[in-house]
Amino acid sequence: MLSSVVQHTSFFRSEARMSDVLVVNGGAPLKGEVTVRGAKNLVSKAMVATVLGESRSRMFDVPRIRDVEIVTGLLELHGVKVTPGEHDGELVFDPSNVERAGVDEINVHAGSSRIPILLCGPLLHRLGHAFIPELGGCNIGGRPIDFHLEALRRFGAVVDKAPEGLHLSAPDGLHGIKYHLDYPSVGATEQILLAAVRAKGVTELSNAAVEPEIIDLICVLQKMGAIIKVHTNRVIEIEGVPRLGGFVHRPIPDRIEAASWASAALATKGDIFVRGARQADMMTYLNVFRSIGGEFEVDDSPSGGGIRFWHPVGDLRAVALETDVHPGFMTDWQQPLVVALSQANGLSVVHETVYENRFGYTEALAQMGANIQVYQDCLGGTPCRFGRMGFRHSAVIAGPAKLHAHDLIIPDLRAGFSHLIAAMAAEGRSRVHGVDLINRGYENFEGKLTALGADIAR
Ligand code: EPZ
Repeated sequence: MLSSVVQHTSFFRSEARMSDVLVVNGGAPLKGEVTVRGAKNLVSKAMVATVLGESRSRMFDVPRIRDVEIVTGLLELHGVKVTPGEHDGELVFDPSNVERAGVDEINVHAGSSRIPILLCGPLLHRLGHAFIPELGGCNIGGRPIDFHLEALRRFGAVVDKAPEGLHLSAPDGLHGIKYHLDYPSVGATEQILLAAVRAKGVTELSNAAVEPEIIDLICVLQKMGAIIKVHTNRVIEIEGVPRLGGFVHRPIPDRIEAASWASAALATKGDIFVRGARQADMMTYLNVFRSIGGEFEVDDSPSGGGIRFWHPVGDLRAVALETDVHPGFMTDWQQPLVVALSQANGLSVVHETVYENRFGYTEALAQMGANIQVYQDCLGGTPCRFGRMGFRHSAVIAGPAKLHAHDLIIPDLRAGFSHLIAAMAAEGRSRVHGVDLINRGYENFEGKLTALGADIAR
């Protein structure tokens, strides 16, 4: 798959297959500068939106990551021409010849990502039918798609579940709906937006997700000609239009990657300037970072600013936090920060309320010497929907604990980055297996680590 994408776009560097093990000699602070580009969780969705348009779209600041490569492959299979633009990080999408792709070809992407499910609406509008392979993505909970399928059926789609994937058709087109999400799911909100913009009539979505990446997707769709109103109280109203054009867009920066580097600075007693990080998208993270004792400075200079994050002269302090939907503390910020909390004085509590099974990675941290216990109870205050269901979704971290080197196997994207940070913070040589998974969401992470002074080798 990689080689076919390289032939088509030459956007993705052709990398010789290397060992999937990174040897990390830890113990030194990470210091220096890294740059973050467009947010993975917006860029991949905006790429899907190009299918809805009848003219070319251009996107800047696209990171060279595996998820972008996977979506590029899927778009190309459906006849969208994807080519690099004239600027570094620019991609151009030409959807004038969207066509049906074979099940076998699409199934090459089975299990690779969760993005294919978002192609339902755009393909139904363009072709009248869609095939969606088995989804992949990180193994951090059940990750059902019941909201997606229920909403699509209400729009008028016929959904057949087959062993090889989902077959969808829309014999009478898609029609606007009134829909209430039981939980403000990011993916289901995106699904409904992408289906509603060209559906006949008005769609009213209540209890929608309003993450900055969703608002940025709405900006993309508005540029294409959509009419979308974001009301108070998580209500989004979409007036369907018969036709959409293309867009030119610079995505919001990746606030998950930015926070990952900030946590790396704290955990390794370092000092990292994250060029491209934007305060407005990270307010909740910055509050927690400051409560722990971390120092930061926002640079808003016109030449392209960022945020500098550094470890204080004194000790870090323990905190209690819970993850939540926006504007709460993102679930994807949790794992790298827990490594830093293992170095803070006292007992920290992290209550995960978005995914039921997102603390598996702490076992490896415990083997490295971190003092972490995981509980089924809703610790720290507010009961959540996982209470009394037997999911170990609260963690208590006692610090500071001296971390020592260990062999690690990366389980998923964000947990993987936290393992890397732990290996950086630990004295001695760790071998981190499965590091290629990190390429899914972190562009050139090895180059960035080296620039920050990390001692790493394949
Ligand atoms: C997106 O996943 C992100 N992925 C995730 O980032 C992120 O953690 C998550 O949103 C929350 O912010 C992408 O954007 C590609 P959800 P998504 O639907 O859309 C339940 C990363 O590392 N739910 O908001 O799949 C679900 O089980 C990834 O970059 C249903 O019950 O998340 C979960 O508990 C990991 N039924 C909760 O909602 C449904 O039909 C939130 O999931 C859909 C979701």
